Amino acid sequence: MGIYSVAVDGPAGSGKSTVAKLIAKELGIVYIDTGAMYRAVALYCINNGIDTKNEEAVSGILDSIDMDIKAENGGQRIYLSGIDVTDDVRSQKAGAGASDVAVIGSVRQKLVNIQRSLAKGMSVIMDGRDIGTNVLTDADVKIYLSASADERAKRRCGELKKLGLEYDFELVKSQIIQRDKNDSERALNPLRKAEDAIEVDTTSMNIDEVKDTIIKIIKEKAGIG
Ligand code: DC
Repeated sequence: MGIYSVAVDGPAGSGKSTVAKLIAKELGIVYIDTGAMYRAVALYCINNGIDTKNEEAVSGILDSIDMDIKAENGGQRIYLSGIDVTDDVRSQKAGAGASDVAVIGSVRQKLVNIQRSLAKGMSVIMDGRDIGTNVLTDADVKIYLSASADERAKRRCGELKKLGLEYDFELVKSQIIQRDKNDSERALNPLRKAEDAIEVDTTSMNIDEVKDTIIKIIKEKAGIG
């Protein structure tokens, strides 16, 4: 079986990371969560008193961010200056800040370079917004996941609850809608379905159904299994 890559894109809360992790485990390939990298840049800014909307200030501190990514059994851990921030980057604040810093060209350039080098020489499933359209344009399989805003807000609340973090459903939903707007209307590599991507609407599917649907597509497209 050769090396292959799978790109999974879609809006916030469409189930990308949950399903990509399960698929990575089942197929024995590496999972790369690119959203966590934008979140880590935002977390660094928040922790250092830098406004995530201030392009000049964020660009100015980019070189001082020491980010490290390690694969672990179907998952990924992310570190800032050697400190594991995998759970911390899941907060609502880091998510909103991530959407801000994601419009900045220098941030995207730094993170896309890291993402491409992580994907070299091994089979990966990478999730984000611009994987099929920009980061891995040659991916063997491109999936675009969608779901209604209501359903996505429910899922994000479940995720926050599991981590023991506080949340408010209406706030989470309005943030998701705002995030969709930011992510799809920005000038640089906006959230968009690649022409050669297969769309899977997950609104009325459970996670196993989504996983099985995608694995079937991967097996057909990548010629594995
Ligand atoms: O998937 P997520 O919620 O963890 O992503 C957080 C933010 O990061 C999202 O609002 C937009 C940005 N992002 C991006 O611009 N490009 C990616 N490949 C991944 C995430």
